[in-house]
Amino acid sequence: MSRLVVVSNRVAPIDEGKQSAGGLAVAVLAALKKTGGIWFGWSGDVVAAPPSAPSLTPVGKLTYATLDLAKRDYEEYYNGYANSTLWPLFHFRLGLTNFNRRNYAGYQRVNALFASKLAPLLQPDDMVWVHDYHLIPFGEQLRLIGMGHRMGFFLHTPFPAPELLVALPNHADIVRALCAYDVVGFHTTTDLRCFINYIRFEARGTVTERPDGEGYFINAFGRTLVARSFPISIDTEPLVTLAKQAARTRQTERLRESLVGRDLIIGVDRLDYSKGLPQRFESFHCLLENYPANRGHVSFLQIAPPSRSDVPEYIAIRKELETLSGHINGRFAEFDWVPIRYLNKSFTRRSLAGFFRVSAVGLVTPLRDGMNLVAKEYVACQDPEDPGVLVLSRFAGAAEELGDALIVNPYDIESVADALQRALTMPLDERKARYNAMMEVLRRNDISVWRENFVTALAGAPYDS
Ligand code: F6P
Repeated sequence: MSRLVVVSNRVAPIDEGKQSAGGLAVAVLAALKKTGGIWFGWSGDVVAAPPSAPSLTPVGKLTYATLDLAKRDYEEYYNGYANSTLWPLFHFRLGLTNFNRRNYAGYQRVNALFASKLAPLLQPDDMVWVHDYHLIPFGEQLRLIGMGHRMGFFLHTPFPAPELLVALPNHADIVRALCAYDVVGFHTTTDLRCFINYIRFEARGTVTERPDGEGYFINAFGRTLVARSFPISIDTEPLVTLAKQAARTRQTERLRESLVGRDLIIGVDRLDYSKGLPQRFESFHCLLENYPANRGHVSFLQIAPPSRSDVPEYIAIRKELETLSGHINGRFAEFDWVPIRYLNKSFTRRSLAGFFRVSAVGLVTPLRDGMNLVAKEYVACQDPEDPGVLVLSRFAGAAEELGDALIVNPYDIESVADALQRALTMPLDERKARYNAMMEVLRRNDISVWRENFVTALAGAPYDS
C-alpha cells in the first residue's frame, strides 16, 4: 500500500493533551494515527532565520516534518493572504476581504518553498494529501518541480459561490491550482456545487457525473480530475467512551456543582467572526427577555480560545464580544447567578467531553462553516438515557447530515431564542429520538470512512487518460 503524506499548514501538537480547537488538526490526527505516514506543515513557530530543512519527529507510525516560518512569510502568507483574503472570502464575507499583491506573492512564495522542502522526502509511490486554503497552490508547485505523484486536496472551509469568488483578483489562478490535483474534496454538496458552477460558467470547463455516482469528472485548465464531497467526521466510538469516562471526572463534577440544578447551554468555538458569536450572545439575551422564566435557571457557557490574534478583524470581534457579554451580564446577573460564562481559553478533549455531557443544549450557530465538528462532538458526548439537544445553524456543513438537530438561521435572533426555549423544554422521548437518529449518522460516517473514501478516490488517480 502506498504511503500517505499529509500536508497542512497547522500540524497537531505532538503532545495530544495540548490539542488546539481547530477541527482540521483533530480530524487529520485521528485519520493518520491508523495509517501512519508523514505529516508535513508549519511548526507554529515564527523565527528570524528558519532552518533550511524540516525538523523530523517520529511518533509511532507517524513522522512529523515541520518547518518554521520567517516573520515576513508569517505576515504575508498566514496573516495576509490566507487569513485576511481567502478565509473571509470563503466564508462569504466579501466586506471583510482584503487583497493586495504583496500578500498574494508571499502566499505563492511560501507554497513554493514548502513544496521544495517536501520534495526530497517523497518516495515514488507516495500519495500526497494536501489540506485547506493555505496550501491551494502547493500541488501545482510540486508538479512544477517534476513531482508526478498522485495528489489530492481537501478544503476544510466552505467554497464560495462563483459570484463571490470572481471578486478575488487572482480567482482563475486559484482554481487552476486546484485543478492541478487529481482529487479535490469538499465537505458538502453545496460547496461542491459552487465549485462545479465556477468550472462550468467561469472556467468554461466540462463537468460529467461519474458512472458510479461518486462525484464528478472535471475537465479544465488542461487536466482531468475528480471533484466530490467527503463530509468529514469524528472518531465516534472513542469519543463516546471518553465522554462516559469524563462524566465522572472531578472537573465535570465541579461544573455540575456550580450549576446547582440549573440547565447549561454550551458553545465551543475558536474566536472567529465566522462563528456568529455576537448573534449567539444576542439570541441568549433574547431568550432571557422573551422567556423570563429562564432568568436564574439557565446559564450559557461560551468557550472561545483566541485565534489569529494579529489579524485586525479578530482583535475587533474579541472587543465586541467582551462588550456584549459584559452588557448582558450587567443587565441580568444576580448576586448568585451569572448568565454568560465567557472564557477565552482552550480545554483538553477530555474536559470538553465532560462539559458537553453536562450541557442540556449544544449551541452551534456559525454564519458559515465548512463542517463544524463541535456539532458532531456534542452529540457523541451525550448520555443516551438523557441526551441534550443540538441547536445548529443551517449554514454549518454539519446541517446537511444532522437534520435531527433544531436547525436555525443564526441571523434570525428571535427564532434562535425560540429554538433554545424549545430545546430547554423538549420532552425526553423527543430528545432520545433525535439523538438516536444523529448517532446513527455519526456511526455510519465516522472519521475512518472519510479517510478511506478520500484515499480510495486518490488511489484511483491519475484520471487524465
Ligand atoms: O478548520 C479550518 C482551519 O482553518 C484549519 O485550517 C486551521 O488549522 C484551524 O481552522 C485553526 O486555525 P489556525 O490554524 O489559523 O489556528
